[in-house]
Amino acid sequence: MGVDFVVFRLVLGIFAVLIPNHVEAAQFKWTNIFCAGHNESWVHMNECRLRAISRNLTTLNLNASIFHPVNDITLDVQLFKKANGYKPWIFKSVVDMCRFLKTKYNPYAKIAFTLVKDFSNLNHSCPYWGLAIVKDFYVNPVKVGLPFPTGDYLLGMKWLYDKKLQMTTNFYFSYTENVIDM
Ligand SMILES: *[C@@H]1O[C@H](CO)[C@@H](O)[C@H](O)[C@H]1NC(C)=O
Ligand SMILES: *[C@@H]1O[C@H](CO)[C@@H](O)[C@H](O)[C@H]1NC(C)=O
Ligand SMILES: *[C@@H]1O[C@H](CO)[C@@H](O)[C@H](O)[C@H]1NC(C)=O
Ligand SMILES: *[C@@H]1O[C@H](CO)[C@@H](O)[C@H](O)[C@H]1NC(C)=O
Repeated sequence: MGVDFVVFRLVLGIFAVLIPNHVEAAQFKWTNIFCAGHNESWVHMNECRLRAISRNLTTLNLNASIFHPVNDITLDVQLFKKANGYKPWIFKSVVDMCRFLKTKYNPYAKIAFTLVKDFSNLNHSCPYWGLAIVKDFYVNPVKVGLPFPTGDYLLGMKWLYDKKLQMTTNFYFSYTENVIDM
């Protein structure tokens, strides 16, 4: 486990102490999504949108066509928190996805993958091709297991195949603590 991950847990742990009952009272909501394909001959986004289910529940839907098998996927991921625009917040990571899918070696990616895998067809090892789907994805804050302070966040992801940028997916979400219980 990397030192940066230990620091990450520690910082969030401090928030947890400052904000009791954080998880039980929390609300997670997708607020926006942005996708861009950078090489239409390899990957095409068929769908990239949020669906409003109710006032406080939105689901995230992605559907991409991958036209050639890919055996080398790098995910460049960074978390941002909104404060006069989105500023880098606590973590940034580069994940070798094909290695990760075999060994789950990256602890950040493991948390994210645990949340998304039941809503997607991504739970298999490389190569990837055909349709990559995330459907009706929502996050139960209890399952996150990491307390976040209230705020607006952006999870920025750049997907590289053979070390070349193919796709950008940006997920925006809000996280709200129930401060009444403090
Ligand atoms: C674009 O995709 C093709 C496969 O369709 C690949 O051969 C080529 O290297 C890619 N180009 C870039 C700049 O990523
Ligand atoms: C959504 O809001 C309704 C009332 O507006 C509330 O009863 C419900 O518990 C909320 N659900 C979540 C997941 O926060
Ligand atoms: C994904 O998009 C493809 C191409 O538009 C479509 O044929 C397929 O039904 C879609 N799958 C889902 C689950 O939305
Ligand atoms: C898919 O996820 C399940 C449940 O976590 C796991 O047991 C299984 O090994 C995974 N399958 C593959 C091919 O990774």
